[in-house]
Amino acid sequence: MRVLVITGAGVSAESGIPTFRGKDGYWRNLDPAKLATPEAFARDPELVWEWYRERRQRIRTAQPNAAHAAIAKLARHADEFLLVTQNVDDLHAGAGLPKEKMVQIHGDIFVTRCSRCSFSDAGRGGSPEPPTDRAVPVQRGRLRSIAATSENDVDLPRCPECDALMRPGVVWFGEQLPWTELQRVENHFDRGPCDVVIVAGTTATFGYIIDWALRASRDGGEFIEVNPEETQLSQFATRLVREPAGTALPCIIDTIVNS
Ligand code: OAD
Repeated sequence: MRVLVITGAGVSAESGIPTFRGKDGYWRNLDPAKLATPEAFARDPELVWEWYRERRQRIRTAQPNAAHAAIAKLARHADEFLLVTQNVDDLHAGAGLPKEKMVQIHGDIFVTRCSRCSFSDAGRGGSPEPPTDRAVPVQRGRLRSIAATSENDVDLPRCPECDALMRPGVVWFGEQLPWTELQRVENHFDRGPCDVVIVAGTTATFGYIIDWALRASRDGGEFIEVNPEETQLSQFATRLVREPAGTALPCIIDTIVNS
């Protein structure tokens, strides 16, 4: 059985992580142009870092939910499996899904990378948030905070290689998707159509998400959409499940695994 699963913020909603376009979603209250673009970072890196640090803290206190666990279970049972998630949190990995079976197409919020060179500091295991006092000891390979040059120049991590500003390892609006990850998605398609496609917790706002779901289910594969609300993909699904993912996915996946 060849499987493709695509997830969005809705799958982490039941873990207490806000979605983007839902009722209390981030983009309802915050302006993405001020927080999630390279221009915003150039204009006000403190504000951008403050927001990503708040999100990192919220994710650190969150636990994977039943939807994440069910998807990890399906990955163990399928002959060929790939999860493409738009989520930058690490809750899929936290549920035991191996990195080699997952593509984080919008990056990983716990990665910190240089805004100029290729230096990056990997994941939650990497360097913890710099303490709020500015006297962070400079250690080779660890992010260093420059001595504050201006009052609000707080805790802007700098690259130990080239001294440029470090930024969160996520994809911002107007930026290219990571080439290597795109290749991994294409490789999954090159190995043939999927028997099962599950799309859960996304408005499918981006064209590539719609394209991947349709290409994967092109040869009559079952296409299941799990979302309490209608989306741009609903018309193409062979089965619509208008329930929260944490409720629906364990049953759906148990049925698939036991069939
Ligand atoms: P959205 O906020 O656009 O959509 C969340 C979807 O999840 C909505 O369709 C909700 O109906 C649904 N939903 C909410 N709770 C759910 C639950 N418990 N179970 C199942 N579904 C639920 O989030 P995304 O589609 O992930 O990108 O947004 C895509 C991208 O836009 C994000 O990765 C981010 C954002 O801007 C970038 O910033 C590049």
